[in-house]
Amino acid sequence: MNERAVNEPATNGRATNGRATDGKATDGKAMNERTTTGQAANGRAVNGQAASCRTQAVGDAVAATEMPRLVRLDHNLYAACFTVMKLLPARYILDTAIRRGELRPGMTVVETSSGTFGLGLAMVTALRGYPLVLVSDPVLDAPLKARLENLGARVEIVTEPAAVGGHQRARLDRLDTIRKECEPAFVPSQYDNPLNPAAYASVAELVRRRIGPVDTLVGCVGSGGSMCGTAQGLRRHRPRTRAVAVDTHHSVLFGLPDGPRTLRGLGNSLMPANVEHDTFDDVHWLGAAEAFGATDRLHREHALFMGPTSGAAFLVARWEARRHPDRTVLALFADEGHRYQSTSGDPNWRRAHGLHLPALPTEPHTVSDPGQVRGHWDHMVWDRRPTPEFARFADERTRAR
Ligand SMILES: Cc1ncc(COP(=O)(O)O)c(C=O)c1O
Repeated sequence: MNERAVNEPATNGRATNGRATDGKATDGKAMNERTTTGQAANGRAVNGQAASCRTQAVGDAVAATEMPRLVRLDHNLYAACFTVMKLLPARYILDTAIRRGELRPGMTVVETSSGTFGLGLAMVTALRGYPLVLVSDPVLDAPLKARLENLGARVEIVTEPAAVGGHQRARLDRLDTIRKECEPAFVPSQYDNPLNPAAYASVAELVRRRIGPVDTLVGCVGSGGSMCGTAQGLRRHRPRTRAVAVDTHHSVLFGLPDGPRTLRGLGNSLMPANVEHDTFDDVHWLGAAEAFGATDRLHREHALFMGPTSGAAFLVARWEARRHPDRTVLALFADEGHRYQSTSGDPNWRRAHGLHLPALPTEPHTVSDPGQVRGHWDHMVWDRRPTPEFARFADERTRAR
């Protein structure tokens, strides 16, 4: 099989996704003895053979879901499509803590999340048998809250935003109180735990083996873990790999003032330590309408049913890939579309909220300073500059606990 083949049938007629024809696991892990299908990875039935190789481990729901599917969208455009991207850092952080003895039986896991990191933690704690308390805010939608509670999590909703740092600051304050009540507690701390970016080394390795060298990595930034971790992993083999951040207006991450954000999952009101600014070559800011429209296009044109941050990453990655046909571009798609189907995934909902675009923009408005950002789709060359003064200021002002 060609090293670069992604999702093309192997000569034995079976999809190659997740499995190389030489029988080695493509995620870099050694393969285990058992297979779900009773077939070896070379397509022959195991049939009484000593199952010593060419078979793949069967793991729990998290292990089976945490790695992305790799999809080719154009000759030079690929996507890493996660079911729930945050499962990967959630599993990696908790299992590392268990191994190190920092998370022991009887301890409670306490975290703040209004999105998929909470879901990742809830799945892992349900499987590993640890109590979980999640501090969230009114942005948490009812179906996700129900799902978290069904997985055994206690969900605390903070209703009053803090004067500086909004709901996120208020959530951190409540988290501190709950942590003290639940002592001894373990706080995974996705915003500043270096194990969050470290978890994505496996994604970089999967991409390197299955796609080959990547020239440009594009993805949304929230905690910074996925983009900084994947970029770092890819740069171990190709230091010139470019990293393109996708953020949204009213997020402080790349120098805009904090404010209410319709597009969720990316952006931040606080400055996470895991956003390493000198990782990024370019920054884009997208509005909700552009991201929602691009999510629709991703589904229509590529049959990929993903969430709105995937649409945002798709719009930027597609522009990058078309502008540089000689460069290989990889986009990170963080989650699937089911959670958003009755809101941003519904054209009637988008029209009712004034977020329906008759046509998607074909290129961004390029600025030389965050102060010139206009809204809709803005772009700035960041040039791997270190954490700027505004971020240090925001950091000290809002992160101090
Ligand atoms: C749906 C979705 N997309 C993108 C991101 C950004 O990822 P990261 O926190 O790794 O920067 C998040 C973060 O929670 C997310 O939930």
